[in-house]
Amino acid sequence: MAGNAVSINGSWASRWVFILAATGSAVGLGNIWKFPYMTGMYGGGAFVVMYLVCIALVGLPIMLAETLIGRRARMSPVNAMRSLAVEAGASPKLAWPAVMGMVAALLILSFYSVIAGWSLDYVLGMGAGRFTGVDAAGAGAAFGALTADPWRLTLWHTLFMVLTGFVIARGVVAGLEKSLRVMMPLLFVLLLILLGYSFTTGHFMEGFHFLFSFQPDKVLDGVLAAMGHAFFTLSVGVGSIMVYGSYMPRHASIGATVLTVGILDTLVALTAGLALFPIVFAGGLEPGAGPGLMFVTLPVAFGNIPFGQLMGTVFFILVLIAAWTSSISMLEPAVAYLVERTGRSRALITAGLALLCWLVGMGTVLSFNLGADARFFVFGEDGFHLFQWGAEGGRTFFDSIDYLTSRILLPLGGLAFVLFAGWVLKRETVREELALRSPLLFTAVYWLMRVVAPLGVLVVFVAELAKQ
Ligand code: TRP
Repeated sequence: MAGNAVSINGSWASRWVFILAATGSAVGLGNIWKFPYMTGMYGGGAFVVMYLVCIALVGLPIMLAETLIGRRARMSPVNAMRSLAVEAGASPKLAWPAVMGMVAALLILSFYSVIAGWSLDYVLGMGAGRFTGVDAAGAGAAFGALTADPWRLTLWHTLFMVLTGFVIARGVVAGLEKSLRVMMPLLFVLLLILLGYSFTTGHFMEGFHFLFSFQPDKVLDGVLAAMGHAFFTLSVGVGSIMVYGSYMPRHASIGATVLTVGILDTLVALTAGLALFPIVFAGGLEPGAGPGLMFVTLPVAFGNIPFGQLMGTVFFILVLIAAWTSSISMLEPAVAYLVERTGRSRALITAGLALLCWLVGMGTVLSFNLGADARFFVFGEDGFHLFQWGAEGGRTFFDSIDYLTSRILLPLGGLAFVLFAGWVLKRETVREELALRSPLLFTAVYWLMRVVAPLGVLVVFVAELAKQ
């Protein structure tokens, strides 16, 4: 329990490695792919403001809660919560949110792998010069051709899942550190180069205003979407950060660490948005285009700048690695738990879970082509249908899983974790783990976890319902 020196699943060499790993988990497709297209779909500035507020008041306190729960117990999320609950004299049943989190993480991985697969395809396409001189229409057509082809999507999805399983099977701690040290800074440099290109489009200010002009009347449009995305981008609400926390060295300041991760993650997302939207406007593209946004805008940029072929290839390789270091953290909670619970080999457990995620992911593959007409959660004129083929409204399989995880499971999971840290753990335990020097700061942070963050989640849920 609290006295355990290390987790049986490993431990990081230092606080820096935890920062690297947690940043690797946080920075991913969420920042470069999802943030821009969500911002586009929900009208820009209003969404960005809500997203930033949610990161600060809800996301970071939850991240703090997850890290300290994990580090305190040094076990996989389910066992960590169970043992800490018992230690605090509460029911071991309080660990169920961690079980839900494992399932949510696997569901996210199922579609994440498909989208990461798109980047794999783009690495090769860029490398082969497929986008040289391309215009917005051409890039759109190329993207359409990719998503229309289930075989190509399946190939990349399979490959990505194998890549993810490979690192997990070898052990996160061993596999992650080296690659992260190089790729995180490089990714940032390339984003800055892209940003430089955006300056030359002549539409930079248009992009800037789109992202940062606050429209108070639109704030309610995407509150839940913004909060869900804040969870998604920080990797909180499922136990990913908790399991990484359980590998954290004992004497490391959790507060400063979590803040660093949050700031880095936000910086990457904002830079990606600032780089992308000028290209969107310059090319006459639709900001609300949805999940294809990054895949039609970036080829236009790289197709039309000096050394674009090389830079584009490198960029998509980096996106791929960013996705890879994130996907690993989705599989880890369940793998760590099953290793503890069954004592079987990591490799075997990883293979089983990866296969499961792969199968579910096939639903996402088909959402973009053969199965595009399979609609779930249809509110039709004749009432509600859980499933209907060819319905007008409703959500595709991919949309459904995305919706279920980001808007429901992540917020609920995060709420449970932060309540656990704030109300189940003893105040002394939290104080000891946080080890903040200033008592005032501790009180502030503690109340963020106890009251502000949980209320934030509830308020957003209520606001969303009131909108209907
Ligand atoms: N945060 C990652 C991204 O932005 C995705 C991710 C990794 C994640 N682990 C997670 C999302 C756990 C939700 C829950 O791409």
